[in-house]
Amino acid sequence: MRVIIQSDYQEMSKYAAHMIAEQIKRKPQSVLGLATGSTPLGLYKELIRLYENEGLDFSKCTTFNLDEYLGLTPQHPQSYDSFMKENFFNHINIDPRFSFIPNGQLDPLNLQGIKIYCEWYENEIQKEGGLDVQILGIGANGHIGFNEPGSSFGSRTRIKTLTEKTRQDNARFFDNNIDHVPKYAVTMGIATIMDARQLILLASGNNKALAVKKAIEGPISAMVPASIVQMHPQAILIIDKEAASELEYDW
Ligand code: PGA
Repeated sequence: MRVIIQSDYQEMSKYAAHMIAEQIKRKPQSVLGLATGSTPLGLYKELIRLYENEGLDFSKCTTFNLDEYLGLTPQHPQSYDSFMKENFFNHINIDPRFSFIPNGQLDPLNLQGIKIYCEWYENEIQKEGGLDVQILGIGANGHIGFNEPGSSFGSRTRIKTLTEKTRQDNARFFDNNIDHVPKYAVTMGIATIMDARQLILLASGNNKALAVKKAIEGPISAMVPASIVQMHPQAILIIDKEAASELEYDW
């Protein structure tokens, strides 16, 4: 595990963008696992800049997003489908046929339909040869994707109930009203994430410092889903000074 501590959010974002750009230059057909949330916004901004100014070419890439809220249409302004289009896909030359985002319109009561869909998502990743790199944020409760504390390390794409903490944290995108935040999401599992050949986990700000500490200096535990990165042979954490502020070890 490598931990790279950058001075601030912008430097963290640039560093991560540089790594992704190198990956795409090395392998134009890269399969990228993408994340949403506030954390990767700077990374996407920098990748857009590299596309516009330096000709970084996404045309042969395939992308798979980690998760999507259940119950939102793709057109809903807070769906992750909208997020990705608005903050990344609409500004680069990626082929929309090759950008996959989990379907947020599954019927939570149709268990068989959910199972078939989730297996399909897993199979699509496999058909593309697996994820070359998975970008991750980290929840203040240690989640990765929407794998909330207690998620099995063997989990695959499935539906998860969101914790109160996650819904509170995300209420800022829903008129600061937790009642507007969906209760469920469809998310890649932890085993899906761990199959990626490389993990890049980003964290910024004091509110992530404890989660980062628990993830990389604490015991590996299903109660801190991000702690599984300790088991990945190619995991890189790119974090800013604030997110690193609780670390004890001299990384
Ligand atoms: P954030 O979310 O980037 O909006 O802080 C990260 C996460 O919940 O994984």
